[in-house]
Amino acid sequence: MDERVAIVTGAGSGIGESTARHLAERGLDVGLVGRRRNRLDDVAAAIAEAGGRSFPLPADLARPEAPQELVERVLAERGRVDVIVNNAASFRLKTVDEFTLEEFDDHVAVNVRAPYFLVRAALPALRSSPAAVVVNVSSAAAGMYRRGQTVYGLTKAALEHMTMNMAAELAPDRVRVVCVRPGPVATEIHTAVSDPEARLRELEKLVPLGRVGQPDEIARWVGHLVDRDADWVTGTVLTVDGGRILGPPGA
Ligand SMILES: NC(=O)c1ccc[n+]([C@@H]2O[C@H](COP(=O)([O-])OP(=O)(O)OC[C@H]3O[C@@H](n4cnc5c(N)ncnc54)[C@H](OP(=O)(O)O)[C@@H]3O)[C@@H](O)[C@H]2O)c1
Repeated sequence: MDERVAIVTGAGSGIGESTARHLAERGLDVGLVGRRRNRLDDVAAAIAEAGGRSFPLPADLARPEAPQELVERVLAERGRVDVIVNNAASFRLKTVDEFTLEEFDDHVAVNVRAPYFLVRAALPALRSSPAAVVVNVSSAAAGMYRRGQTVYGLTKAALEHMTMNMAAELAPDRVRVVCVRPGPVATEIHTAVSDPEARLRELEKLVPLGRVGQPDEIARWVGHLVDRDADWVTGTVLTVDGGRILGPPGA
């Protein structure tokens, strides 16, 4: 069993929830971060029922102080931080003229600043871990250029740059930094658009392998990258998208 302590952001739903359950199945003790306390409690109860360990860490990552406070809470409660999965994100599809200053700042704060400062706050703990790993969850939008995705896409492109730059800088400390880049996955994130079911049907047609993904299909890859067997892998951006970034089927 894996004795490490992980922090998973956005653990109350979707890819983050699946990832938290998956890491707990592997034996890790998982700190569950999100704003909705009830969702974190439900995930913690499901993990306990399956024989795993986790603990809720309600927090709003848009607050500048949140990353430091989270790491302090985990160190006070568990005494170590070995794994960070930066999965939470703000997501709005809006054209350049529609995006407000507040929305822009919120996307950068949640999708870029919080992941950076979570790692920074945890660095002493990560450096003393026997197997430290940071997994950032990007998006196919980081490398695709589509209407309404300027701000979301730029935050994910920044996260991928951060992955590789931090991986290079922290390799001598034996802190691995990797990234998973999902294509369209059936989660609540699509409720940000007016008709999420119609959007998923539309996205499905754009995936060469003919369907959208399920949260567990992303969580499994996060699990592989966190595994000690992956200890010669760093700086990798792993695309798990049914071929989405290759273009529409038959293109
Ligand atoms: N689903 C897709 O098609 C897709 C495709 C590519 C990439 N991704 C990426 O996958 C990741 C997970 O998204 P998902 O699809 O699983 O959607 P989701 O179910 O909506 O998950 C997003 C999570 O982030 C949390 N969150 C959002 N803002 C937060 C904040 N300010 N502070 C703390 N937590 C916050 C939300 O919880 P609370 O609301 O309770 O805070 C929620 O649990 C994201 O990084 C997303 O960009 C998703």
